[in-house]
Amino acid sequence: MSDKATLEINGEKHEFPLVKGTENEVAIDIKTLRGVTGGVTTIDPGYKNTGSCESAITFLDGEKGILRYRGYSIEELAEKADFLEVAYLLIFGELPTQEQLDKFHADIKKHSVIDDDVKKILDAFPKAAHPMGVLSSLTSALTAFNPSSVNVDSEEDMYNAIVRIMGKFPILVAWTMRKKKGLPLEYGSSSLGYVENILKMMFKHPGEDYEQNPILVNALDKLLILHADHEQNCSTSTVRIVGSSHAGLFASLSAGISALWGPLHGGANQAVLEMLEAIKEDGGDTKKYMAKAKDKADPFRLMGFGHRVYKNFDPRAKIIKVAADEVLGDLGIEDPILDIAKGLEKEALEDPYFVDRKLYPNVDFYSGIIYRGMDIPTEMFTVMFAMGRLPGWISQWREMRLRKEPIGRPRQLYIGETSRAFKAISKR
Ligand code: SDX
Repeated sequence: MSDKATLEINGEKHEFPLVKGTENEVAIDIKTLRGVTGGVTTIDPGYKNTGSCESAITFLDGEKGILRYRGYSIEELAEKADFLEVAYLLIFGELPTQEQLDKFHADIKKHSVIDDDVKKILDAFPKAAHPMGVLSSLTSALTAFNPSSVNVDSEEDMYNAIVRIMGKFPILVAWTMRKKKGLPLEYGSSSLGYVENILKMMFKHPGEDYEQNPILVNALDKLLILHADHEQNCSTSTVRIVGSSHAGLFASLSAGISALWGPLHGGANQAVLEMLEAIKEDGGDTKKYMAKAKDKADPFRLMGFGHRVYKNFDPRAKIIKVAADEVLGDLGIEDPILDIAKGLEKEALEDPYFVDRKLYPNVDFYSGIIYRGMDIPTEMFTVMFAMGRLPGWISQWREMRLRKEPIGRPRQLYIGETSRAFKAISKR
């Protein structure tokens, strides 16, 4: 294959380098396009065909349903690694030795405390506030209590900001849920593992000891791994572009949380459960909702289905579907919602509308069923997604900063009014 792409504009030919990634993906390097063509740019709503960066963190092949973190398959990591190990892999590029992992966890524990004044901010929210809005606000507020985490140019300063947020974020996640449930805010125990500590902070009842349930620990550990990174999705691209202005890690993460909140993105796991509940209330009439999803006049979409990149099964959905059966079975939970989900999936996979558009279940289709089995409120599902995605966001932010990438500032195609003279109000 040639190493150049040729573009002809108004009879003039311009050559641009073809660049190839380590998985043989090919991109046209158009860094010089505007300059050599006298101002011609590209337009690509939703960036469906446009790469924003080169990255060495996550590879996914949408056609083949492949997902790898730093070269390791999601299937192997979900089965053999734990979440903190995967977080280290994503952020620093290699699976840690036991010594490296222990030091990382020890450094995180040093910062697993939140300034008490943050509780005043949390208290100011109405109980009805959506947890994603609370989490995004508190994450940004942490900047005020950790000013040294803003201007980080050295790897050491970045590391200190990273272990701070890895220590504080799970507390914010747990406190956000406890606020929703009207429970007192609890800290965990530094003697516990990272995921065990999250569960204790979320579920410990006042005045009682919290007994770890290995089923819940394994389920949450796996779910967090499956959500940990996903290359340049909407929220990760948000973290990278906010970070590119050097706004600081916590502010960049806060922006990413807001992007994840949307029902077309991470908010879909909540929307899936609400959809399945509605179908259950409607007598389990899945055909009615399939018809709505296919009706262009109806804004309803089959939540948890379809993906910008996966035009095959989302490998994470396959793993979560099996885990949902296992966890509910281990917990002795008979959830009719799971049966409705499986029925909907079967119908959709046989329906030409979905088959022709390559719409398969995505990561959000089954995850909420497990969270519900773990007694996590529906409104907290996307917060759990953010907890999983935290190391991915951090790794992408760190890569962007270490590569000294320029500030993100896309161009546009102006389609508004051309120049016109001001008109006095009396003349309008
Ligand atoms: C996540 O990017 C990531 O990696 C995200 C994520 C991650 O880990 O970060 O994987 C997490 O966000 C998963 C996606 C969760 N969202 C949902 O489940 C919401 C429902 N899904 C859709 O809204 C949609 O599929 C998107 C947003 C996920 C993808 O949309 P695209 O790529 O912009 O596709 P599109 O909207 O152009 O749809 C193409 C066609 C359209 O029909 P036609 O105009 O061709 O006739 O497919 C239809 C769409 O109407 N379609 C659906 C549908 N999804 C797409 N029709 C019904 N139900 C759906 N769910």
